[in-house]
Amino acid sequence: MKSGKKRARVRSRMADLADPHALYEKSVQSPEHDVPFIASYFQGYTGQPLRMLREDFCGTAAFATCFVNAHPENRAIGIDLDEATLQWGRTHNVSRLTADQQRRLTLVCGNVLDPHPAKVQLTVALNFSYMVFRDRATLRQYFERVRASLKSGGMLVLDIWGGSESQVLQEEARTIENPDDDGVGDFTFIWDQDAFDPATYYCTTRIHFRFRDRSRIRNAFVYEWRLWTLAEVMEIMRDAGFHDVHFLWECTDSATGTDTYQRAEKGEADLAWIAYAVGINADVPGRRAGR
Ligand SMILES: C[S@@+](CC[C@H](N)C(=O)[O-])C[C@H]1O[C@@H](n2cnc3c(N)ncnc32)[C@H](O)[C@@H]1O
Repeated sequence: MKSGKKRARVRSRMADLADPHALYEKSVQSPEHDVPFIASYFQGYTGQPLRMLREDFCGTAAFATCFVNAHPENRAIGIDLDEATLQWGRTHNVSRLTADQQRRLTLVCGNVLDPHPAKVQLTVALNFSYMVFRDRATLRQYFERVRASLKSGGMLVLDIWGGSESQVLQEEARTIENPDDDGVGDFTFIWDQDAFDPATYYCTTRIHFRFRDRSRIRNAFVYEWRLWTLAEVMEIMRDAGFHDVHFLWECTDSATGTDTYQRAEKGEADLAWIAYAVGINADVPGRRAGR
């Protein structure tokens, strides 16, 4: 028998359907681009294939997962403080690997400031995560810990963000294409530079998401960082004992970025830029300095 009552159709808001970790990966990570770029830079520098790396601040381990998938001899360790984020990575990224690939990946819930015994060829720390260390002594301690876990000739690669716009309080919105059948569709990623103190260079940055049905997720991720300059990061890497500390600057094509990077002696006074800082655990035998 019909009740005669109209059943209300409840339609979930896109913000309720969306998974912040998935949105984050779609917005700011591209391991399928980063893994071959970093592996190829390592091989070009050392003459050795990259087979063993550590991803610090690995979060959902997108980079480490992609790396073990890239070659049957690749092994990776990912370290992150946050067990819930690691668990998301296990469920959504690691689970897609074969059993053999999973055996070659170790995820550690731990602090990158602590000693970690495994010796690796390369440590990578992406999306500016080391900026969580807001004083020189702690950043140096982190670099010393990284160096202690690198093999001789091993490499540290960090990304860094700067330019005069990095000190401006602003929200920058970008449309992210999302072809997945997840009920969310294309969405807007918003990078919110919410606070910057010129006395300390401490900054607060936030990530928000906006959806086509006008629902939003505010403060999906919030970072209390120090906006280290490239000069400071390279000085502290040298203080921590790294050799041949240098940086990779984005190549330009008629003044637009190309998303490809090469070793440079000087940067450009761009309004906003991303670069990579690189340090070597010891001189690579037979390699001429400054190549
Ligand atoms: C900005 S997210 C970066 C995630 C990922 N690396 C990426 O490229 O997008 C920063 C991550 O660093 C982790 N983290 C912060 N301090 C840490 C520490 N001292 N040791 C290990 N992980 C840390 C957080 O839990 C978080 O997952």
